[in-house]
Amino acid sequence: MKITILYYSETGNTEKMAMFVKEGILSQAPEAEVELMNLKDEDSMNVEFLNASEAVVFGTPCYVANLCWQMKKFFDTRWDCKLADKLAACFATANCMWGGADIAIQTVLQHAMTRGMFSYASGAGNGRPFIHLGPIALRDELEEKADLFRIFGRRVAEKTEKYFVKH
Ligand SMILES: Cc1cc2nc3c(=O)[nH]c(=O)nc-3n(C[C@H](O)[C@H](O)[C@H](O)COP(=O)(O)O)c2cc1C
Repeated sequence: MKITILYYSETGNTEKMAMFVKEGILSQAPEAEVELMNLKDEDSMNVEFLNASEAVVFGTPCYVANLCWQMKKFFDTRWDCKLADKLAACFATANCMWGGADIAIQTVLQHAMTRGMFSYASGAGNGRPFIHLGPIALRDELEEKADLFRIFGRRVAEKTEKYFVKH
């Protein structure tokens, strides 16, 4: 099973949380191959791996109460990245609780669905911890939220294995 974690991180917050998601995925599926790709760093982009992935977890910093423009640019321009029929999930980082990170996640999932992906949010229906649309970490509480992001990663791995990996 291959899972891509595709994010944009300018100052490291989103990247830190991406690493916790990766830890969670690997705790659920130790044999999984997981690659982190930062849109800031062209060299980290591995389109071949992304296209072969069963799931893509997106991570965006909240910019102006929405997804960052670099992620928007990705969705608008990177048609070489084949997203259709994969699981999509999303997390975000932000400065403040009312800063619009939920809207950022919702917009990313909307783009993902438009590209033919199946949205997975982890939700509240899986019991505690309730993750709703996707986990959010504020810049002052990144470590505090580590376990939440690991659990999110675990759930993503479980659903990917169950519904997207051909056995
Ligand atoms: C251009 C810009 C716009 C931002 N807008 C918001 C915002 O609307 N709401 C918010 O809570 N944080 C906002 N932030 C803060 C970032 O979302 C936050 O610091 C994030 O964790 C940065 O992620 P990074 O370290 O991965 O780059 C903004 C930051 C920038 C640079």
